[in-house]
Amino acid sequence: PRGAARLGDGDVLVGGVSLTELAEAYGTPVYVLDEAEARRRAAGYRTALPDASVHYAAKAFLCTSFARWMDQEGLGLDVCSGNELALALAVGFPAARIILHGNAKTESELLLAVKHGVGRVVLDSFPEIAHLAALADPARPQGVYVRVVPGVAAGHHAAVRTGVDDQQFGFALEDGGALEAVERVLDQPHLRLDGLHCHLGSQITDIEPFLTAVGRLVGLLGRLRERRGVTLPELDLGGGHGIAYRVGDAELPPEDFAAYVLPRLRACCAEAGIPVPRLVLEPGRAIVGPAGVAVYRVLSVKVAASGRRFVAVDGGMSDNPRPALYGAEYSVQLIGRRSAALMEPARVVGRHCEAGDVLVPDASLPADVRPGDLLAVPASGAYQLSMASGYNLVARPPLVGVREGAWKVLLRREALSDILEREGVGAAG
Ligand code: LLP
Repeated sequence: PRGAARLGDGDVLVGGVSLTELAEAYGTPVYVLDEAEARRRAAGYRTALPDASVHYAAKAFLCTSFARWMDQEGLGLDVCSGNELALALAVGFPAARIILHGNAKTESELLLAVKHGVGRVVLDSFPEIAHLAALADPARPQGVYVRVVPGVAAGHHAAVRTGVDDQQFGFALEDGGALEAVERVLDQPHLRLDGLHCHLGSQITDIEPFLTAVGRLVGLLGRLRERRGVTLPELDLGGGHGIAYRVGDAELPPEDFAAYVLPRLRACCAEAGIPVPRLVLEPGRAIVGPAGVAVYRVLSVKVAASGRRFVAVDGGMSDNPRPALYGAEYSVQLIGRRSAALMEPARVVGRHCEAGDVLVPDASLPADVRPGDLLAVPASGAYQLSMASGYNLVARPPLVGVREGAWKVLLRREALSDILEREGVGAAG
């Protein structure tokens, strides 16, 4: 459908479509995804880094339309489950441009990757090296990366810092595990080692950790050259590029990788006497995060005995678990009407049955916010719908894609029948 192109008082347009109109058409909570913004961000990586290979990290958010958009923008895809892989393959995403990740892949996931010719499988443990070697097609060696833990701490929360030694992903540089993993892969004739991989963490806003990681990984490449005489053509630095959740927050744009990481890579390689590998990146959040907005309706407003004003909305930790899981910070604004009231502190909470269901602990909202009002939370495109749960059997919200004043439902709201069908009860009960 097309928007009525009338802008009511306090209306906010995304992709030329009124959020109020979408809230009325589809109910709330509703997630809105700005197609042009996601495409612009994807294209921004290609422009800033024309010689790099950029793979969108599907874990941030994936649906069939989004996979197509990324394909059309010339990006590859990073998937970390058989279902993400199968969804991408179902819309004809070229398997050669897919990277499969995971610290605990199942045999059927590895087989699916091998069967469809997935470009790279990222090896994460010694048993997996042997396992994949046994499954690989002798007629078509499987391209692989070895995931290295560079010993670099970065990321917005301990839960996402995968560059340090005491966590479950990859092979450490520290204890020689990475070197041994590489040597074992080189001994497998059905595996083709295309490069090293590392992923430091997520929502990193500083380039320095990436520069340190480059130095350490190139160090390993140099040792490989000495010991085995091999040169690896690719170096995958994973994702983790931070976005601004609130106005004024720092972000890490692709231009910084061009300005700082590429020169560092060249310098380190020159020092190590090895050819410069092609840079591979896997941004997820930086492409989809800022393109999404969540729209909620206020259901209740109360002042607790503590004196705090609680504004409760019709969604919460089931559609956005990030504040509860990581203390993630968002901004929130009243939309759909203009208020002349003074801004006052408010805690925006969800509708789930626990006091931890807080979306924005220290928001500032007009004093007259009342039930029926609409609230918008920007930068809601990444790790929200992809991490949504069915807690309290609250329906997963719909996602509406907007572009140039028109919209399309990309994901419909979960229905009671979806929930009952899983139990074999069926819609009729
Ligand atoms: N590559 C690998 C191997 C990854 O593990 C990840 C994210 C990415 C790329 C993409 O990272 P991004 O560019 O989106 O930061 N649920 C957490 C984030 C978990 C990130 C997991 N890995 C959150 O909501 O903050």
